[in-house]
Amino acid sequence: MTKTVDPFESISLDDLRKRTSEKWSTYGSDVLPVFVAEMDFALAPPVRAALQAAVALGDVGYAASGEVPAAFAAFARRRFGWDLDPGAVFAVPDVMAGVAEALQLLTPPGAGVVINPPVYPPFFDVIRHEGRTVVEAPLQQDSGGMWRLDLAALERAFSAGAQAYLLCSPHNPVGRVWSEAELRDVAALAARYHVAVISDEIHAPLTMPGFTFSPLLKTAPDQPVIALSSASKAFNIPGLKCAVMVATSQQLRADLQSRLSSRRDEVESRIGQLGVIATIAAFHEGDEWLDALLAHLDRTRHLLTELLGAHIPATRYFPPQATYLAWIDCSALFPDGQPADHFLRRGRVALEAGSKFGKQCASWARLNFGTSSAIVEEAVRRMARAV
Ligand SMILES: Cc1ncc(COP(=O)(O)O)c(C=O)c1O
Repeated sequence: MTKTVDPFESISLDDLRKRTSEKWSTYGSDVLPVFVAEMDFALAPPVRAALQAAVALGDVGYAASGEVPAAFAAFARRRFGWDLDPGAVFAVPDVMAGVAEALQLLTPPGAGVVINPPVYPPFFDVIRHEGRTVVEAPLQQDSGGMWRLDLAALERAFSAGAQAYLLCSPHNPVGRVWSEAELRDVAALAARYHVAVISDEIHAPLTMPGFTFSPLLKTAPDQPVIALSSASKAFNIPGLKCAVMVATSQQLRADLQSRLSSRRDEVESRIGQLGVIATIAAFHEGDEWLDALLAHLDRTRHLLTELLGAHIPATRYFPPQATYLAWIDCSALFPDGQPADHFLRRGRVALEAGSKFGKQCASWARLNFGTSSAIVEEAVRRMARAV
């Protein structure tokens, strides 16, 4: 009997080291990189086929993104039960470019913008870069390890005058999929204090089996809410440059359309044609591969519990409900903090430093498990060597 090959396990480290992306070019060949949010798997077959056909045709001119909104709306209907008018969807080069546009559209210069550390480090940067002010409402972790939004802290920030809230849903790095009830509370609070919400939903397609992602705009379609999404995380194509912004309130949709039209050179012109082609293929034809990926990631997030328990039991890790990022508390290991530095120096394994995600996070590290179980095992072995 022939054994079927598991595409998520049959990964060659030698081939990965031939890649030239940030993940594989930042460190030397003695270091195992598990830092930046980029996966090690081969492309989904429909995405690969679409890209190969485009390259064979020389279809790499200036991007024409007209079909992206309908492809995203179809994906959102199938995967999230979200009945979305493609007219509410706008293509942009990447999610962070969309966040910058949303900040400019929704807030005046200097406005307070709330974020929930620990959080994706560029959230701090984009708010400052766009001339707004970072307001922190840190997440809370309960005694069972479950991360929660601190509604009281959010309310304090909103009542003190913050004008926007940049929500990460699902959340990087803690991996929470916010429930519909939690999002209803967020929407109600934002409405009470007239706070606009920018909901970064880039990790939503990577919601693990058994959990349900709720788009914020499904809960608050008429509020000043802009959502962002992309095929780039789930289908591992962030270098190709294509994402979407969504606004469903009639007023905001018109305002967003007008802003993006006036900023063609800065926004639409920077969308990548290969990104458009890959995104349309992913959203229309990627479900089967995505389901297989999620089954693999679901196994791997639990494998990591076993590996950390066996090799570095002093770490604390709560398996994420979405995405392939493990947020690991190393405070019992390195009293001076900076665990990623120790892992790199002594173990030759590169994790993302927790300190980048917030000032409270110096003793944490983020590990990317979007790879084979053999590579995850090797990463943990190397971490254990550093302890
Ligand atoms: C929450 C979040 N938003 C945005 C991004 C980056 O997206 P893009 O490359 O489309 O700007 C990432 C990448 O890891 C992310 O985790």
